[in-house]
Amino acid sequence: MRIVLLVSGTGSNLQAVIDAVASGGLDAEIAAVGADRRGTLGVERAARAGIPTFVVDFADYPERSAWNDALGEAVAAYAPDYVVSSGFMRIVDQGFLDRFPNRYLNTHPALLPSFPGAHGVRDALAYGVKVTGCTVMIADAGVDTGPILAQAPVAVLPDDTEESLHERIKVEERRLLIETLRMLGSAR
Ligand code: GAR
Repeated sequence: MRIVLLVSGTGSNLQAVIDAVASGGLDAEIAAVGADRRGTLGVERAARAGIPTFVVDFADYPERSAWNDALGEAVAAYAPDYVVSSGFMRIVDQGFLDRFPNRYLNTHPALLPSFPGAHGVRDALAYGVKVTGCTVMIADAGVDTGPILAQAPVAVLPDDTEESLHERIKVEERRLLIETLRMLGSAR
């Protein structure tokens, strides 16, 4: 199973996948890691692990559709079985999704359909829910929509901050992502 992961930030989910592959816990090859901007820690983590990297910088494209096309080309060049958004904070268009039908996975730090968007942890905390969690899904062209593959709950503690809650969610998110990839790999 060949995987391309897309990152926008620190890439802690990516690191978990790198570690799972390295330890033999996940039977997969990370074909490449791509980012939507230069200088991400995620790309640095991949490079450190000897994984090919690419950047299709959103800022280099005057039109969103041109950026989407370029991203699709760059990802397709690695012929992935699955593409994983691991903290990739941009919505891709239908043209991109059509290249990888049912093969673009996304993770989100909330129990969808509650609290979609860029601030899933902050929004759940502000609402005052006592349980939140994480979701792994097949992404579609919406914001954190698409068929849900797996979810895990995480309790909100009385003195939680956005950071402390997100850290606990990420522990579950990493486990869930790897479990889901394992399941998809063995179903092939
Ligand atoms: C993850 O919690 C991921 O679910 C979230 O960004 C974090 C990235 O962490 N994504 C979204 O909120 C998408 N709506 P990482 O860069 O350390 O893997």
